Amino acid sequence: YETKLQELKKKIKSFPDFPKPGILFWDIFSALADGPTNKILQSLLVQTIKAKFPDVQAVVGLESRGFLFSFSIAAELGIACLPVRKKGKLPGEVISYKYDLEYGSDVLEIQKDSVQPGLKCVIIDDLIATGGSITAATHLLNRCGADVIGCLLVIELTALGGRQCIPKGIPVHSLITYE
Ligand code: PRP
Ligand code: MG
Repeated sequence: YETKLQELKKKIKSFPDFPKPGILFWDIFSALADGPTNKILQSLLVQTIKAKFPDVQAVVGLESRGFLFSFSIAAELGIACLPVRKKGKLPGEVISYKYDLEYGSDVLEIQKDSVQPGLKCVIIDDLIATGGSITAATHLLNRCGADVIGCLLVIELTALGGRQCIPKGIPVHSLITYE
């Protein structure tokens, strides 16, 4: 497990001053560009979800980079893969959650019919920075009556303290952390 994590970590490139000056951008696609690393990453995520959240019934991916992982994990486990998207992208009846950003606000949506009350969900995304996106997704799922049993991230930027925003009692697991 540790060797695989080190292999993965080596492949993730960072880009200073992207998309804005002062931001160090951790690029998950640099890891996915390498075939053997894809396989390692997928096996680490599946192993982690089985170990930490054995009761999971649905994997909820956050648009857009969360989708890279939600589908493959859910398909391997043979369980539901549900999308959380930005406003106006999902057809049919949706449940919405509005949240504040540094400048302005944003709205996340999920299809109402896809979530039965009590559904045990794990939310997945490529990265947690301020925690705003994943926290909003937990509130959205709670609003639907789902049971959020955990959050899974490939990368956690610990200096930003994002996991502190996530409602207490929801376990958060990240494969790799950076200061
Ligand atoms: C990035 C990243 C996470 C989120 C993390 O997504 O993929 O979803 O930001 O930041 P936070 O913890 O401060 O909310 P982005 O909004 O750039 O969109 P993308 O996934 O469509 O590229
Ligand atoms: Mg994202």
